[in-house]
Amino acid sequence: MQTSPRLILLWRVLVFFAALSPLGYWSAQVALGHAGPEPGQYLLLKFGLCALVLLLLTLALTPLTRLTGWRGFTAIRRQLGLWCFAYALLHLTSYVLFILGLDVSLLWDDIQRRPYIIVGALALLGLLVMAVTSNRVSMRRLGKRWKRVHSLVYGVLLLVLLHFFWVVRADMAEWAGYALAGAALLLLRLDALSRRLPALGRRLRLR
Ligand code: HEM
Repeated sequence: MQTSPRLILLWRVLVFFAALSPLGYWSAQVALGHAGPEPGQYLLLKFGLCALVLLLLTLALTPLTRLTGWRGFTAIRRQLGLWCFAYALLHLTSYVLFILGLDVSLLWDDIQRRPYIIVGALALLGLLVMAVTSNRVSMRRLGKRWKRVHSLVYGVLLLVLLHFFWVVRADMAEWAGYALAGAALLLLRLDALSRRLPALGRRLRLR
């Protein structure tokens, strides 16, 4: 499918505003007092979930490109990955501001109460490594190793799902939905399945 550079630019701008809008909406909900009795906790959970959704969307872009042949999906991969990192940082910021109340000396006690914080921190570290190496200079410098560094994304996904699993425990339905989506995306990366996507796309008249 051919797409003009102008259309790709417009698409990138649209994706930018679409990714920014949840931040605007949730901030407005807090400002208007519609975020419930614990607005800090509200933001913490919304930002964490948004980071997970963006991670899954980022992982969906390569299979979508193979299925449709549309390069617009590849064109927004870096942007969506960086948005995922940005929401994960907002999630951490909400934790430090609203849960710890900026008192970092409470962190050790909190980690003992909720060890899943370590798992989240490891996932964030993985996202950080990918965010700082997502530019052209790093791509050139790392050469073949760049792909290996960015395959960290699968480990990050598993860590985030574990982090989330540990948080919910009681109501597993929502978690299971995200885990299924993650498992499907991981399966689609397998060579045997990934190679069939262009043919499937042609059969479905998507390319
Ligand atoms: C240092 C890093 C992190 C810290 C300190 C942290 C902390 C937390 C805490 C305290 C909660 C539970 C809130 C509660 O129910 O009381 C939580 C939930 C969650 N976190 Fe993190 N997290 C971190 C990293 C991440 C990352 C990197 C992601 C995703 C990319 C993430 C996604 C989530 C999700 C999806 C939830 C559950 C949201 C829900 O129940 O709706 N977290 N996190």
